[in-house]
Amino acid sequence: MQQALSIGIIGLGVMGQRMLARLAGHPRLRASHVWDADPAAVARTLAADPGLVAAASAEALIATPGLASLYIATPPGPHMALSNLAFDAGLAVFCEKPLTVDFGAARRTIARITQQGQRAAVNFSLASSPGLAALQAAWPHPGGAPGAAPGALQGVEIDLAFAAWPRPWQAAAGAWLAQRAEGGFSREVLSHFIFVLQRVLGPATVLASSPVYLADGLGAETALAAQLQAGGVPVRVQAGVGGALDDFNRMAWHGDAGALALGDWFGLQQRLGAGDWQPLGDPSALRAEGQVAQLAQWVALIEGRPHGLPGFAEALAVQETIEALLAG
Ligand SMILES: NC(=O)c1ccc[n+]([C@@H]2O[C@H](COP(=O)([O-])OP(=O)(O)OC[C@H]3O[C@@H](n4cnc5c(N)ncnc54)[C@H](O)[C@@H]3O)[C@@H](O)[C@H]2O)c1
Repeated sequence: MQQALSIGIIGLGVMGQRMLARLAGHPRLRASHVWDADPAAVARTLAADPGLVAAASAEALIATPGLASLYIATPPGPHMALSNLAFDAGLAVFCEKPLTVDFGAARRTIARITQQGQRAAVNFSLASSPGLAALQAAWPHPGGAPGAAPGALQGVEIDLAFAAWPRPWQAAAGAWLAQRAEGGFSREVLSHFIFVLQRVLGPATVLASSPVYLADGLGAETALAAQLQAGGVPVRVQAGVGGALDDFNRMAWHGDAGALALGDWFGLQQRLGAGDWQPLGDPSALRAEGQVAQLAQWVALIEGRPHGLPGFAEALAVQETIEALLAG
């Protein structure tokens, strides 16, 4: 039997809890040590799983002997400092997106990763998804030349709508999520689809963007309409708070002989010619497949093997596009 890999987790809010649930029962990855700046979050976590060990601080957690990797699920602010502490201790880092809003710190960290061969990845959940694999198979070349049925790529459309922001399942998250400095649906949700866009087509350029903000100057964006170009292909974004659905997301890729679409995160649909949209697989099975693959990729990251998780440089490129969209 292969040795278990001990994971330390910093940040025990909504996402930290989700990752703890995902890790439970994994054959290799074993959450062992946890820490959060909020003692109540630590207490809740230990009450739910008394087998976990609470560290006395972030530094103490990172210094824990025998740890293989650090998972960072705090808001973006501390991501770079915690990553660098983990690299100092020789840990592989799996960090939540968005990477950071401090581009200088990100560039210094990326230079260090490159120079020292540090192991680091960012959790864009669609990175290991069957949907992304289908898009890469359909358009294997950055310019969108055809590789399969949908033909030469003509355009990409991203549509997002949220009945309320933050979404109901994030109601317990910190105030940061609704604030302009670090939160908002563009960093939280649109970034996943910009990641997919840039992974398939290469860097995107923002041609026009119209974010709408609350008049208080503090609140996150309430709407965003934008046009971009990636690999010479036009990309349209329409997103906003409103409508009846808690979390509507759809990314349609139109070829000259058909189309593919990601919807509701892991769902995948295909249209041939001008025919009807047809599901490709069961969305919940695709989600499960993507999540199992994600953890397998994390094991590969820890063991220094090739993996498909986005590195910090790829995540920074996503964030640069997102911040350009938010700047308008
Ligand atoms: N990959 C995904 O699908 C996905 C989904 C949701 C959230 N996220 C990302 O996960 C991260 C966390 O989001 P969330 O929804 O869990 O937020 P949250 O507000 O629910 O939880 C954040 C936790 O971090 C703690 N924290 C804040 N600063 C800290 C620090 N300096 N040191 C230690 N702990 C600290 C808070 O006390 C809180 O418990 C964000 O970067 C978010 O964008 C990713």
